[in-house]
Amino acid sequence: MLPVIETQRLILRNISIKDVHDMYEYASTDKVGPLAGWAPHLNIHETIGVISMFQAQAYKTGLGVFAITLKENNKMIGTIELFNHYANFKAEMGYALNPAYWGMGIVPEAATALLHWGFKELNLKRIEINLFVDNYQSERVCQKLGLKLEGIIRNGYMRYDGKIFDEKKYSITDIEFFKIYGNKQAA
Ligand SMILES: CC(C)(COP(=O)(O)OP(=O)(O)OC[C@H]1O[C@@H](n2cnc3c(N)ncnc32)[C@H](O)[C@@H]1OP(=O)(O)O)[C@@H](O)C(=O)NCCC(=O)NCCS
Repeated sequence: MLPVIETQRLILRNISIKDVHDMYEYASTDKVGPLAGWAPHLNIHETIGVISMFQAQAYKTGLGVFAITLKENNKMIGTIELFNHYANFKAEMGYALNPAYWGMGIVPEAATALLHWGFKELNLKRIEINLFVDNYQSERVCQKLGLKLEGIIRNGYMRYDGKIFDEKKYSITDIEFFKIYGNKQAA
């Protein structure tokens, strides 16, 4: 199971079947999934299946997808995760947010908390974020977090619909993290 992580406006927690309608609200639109590499959900049963899969993954590995929820009303407005994880080494971060909440710094706030978790609790040495080359919104999140652009992976990703994208790879190391966010040892 995942820990519960609290930030100023948010609670990051295990996803629940009770979140199904909140998740379907944004997962069914064509504004979110296609930018993150997954197809919009066609019906609520698909969302139920995705939530079950996320729960099983978190239960089995202790890692997986957090629900991003608003402290004020427990509404689930997105997801954030560390995946492709190698213990004490590295992981990739992914996120998606309901468009009604875009532009409020919600994901940077949640992602900062996951950087703390990843580097301080999971002892990672590197966290990376890969995004489609023209995903400016996600690129801004990387920049706000202090990640560095490492390069472009040409034709690096084939989406569910067969479309092939160049990807940008951003990353942050443990040493950079402790320099930006506060010392562990002498960073
Ligand atoms: C990427 C994403 C998670 C950013 O979350 P967020 O909490 O809105 O992040 P921010 O508030 O920091 O906004 C990031 C940028 O999005 C852009 N943005 C803000 N509001 C927007 C809106 N309503 N429509 C389009 N873009 C908008 C701005 O350029 C902003 O940067 P700025 O603060 O320098 O102006 C969100 O846009 C999203 O869910 N996108 C679809 C899924 C996705 O791309 N996932 C990442 C895959 S790598």
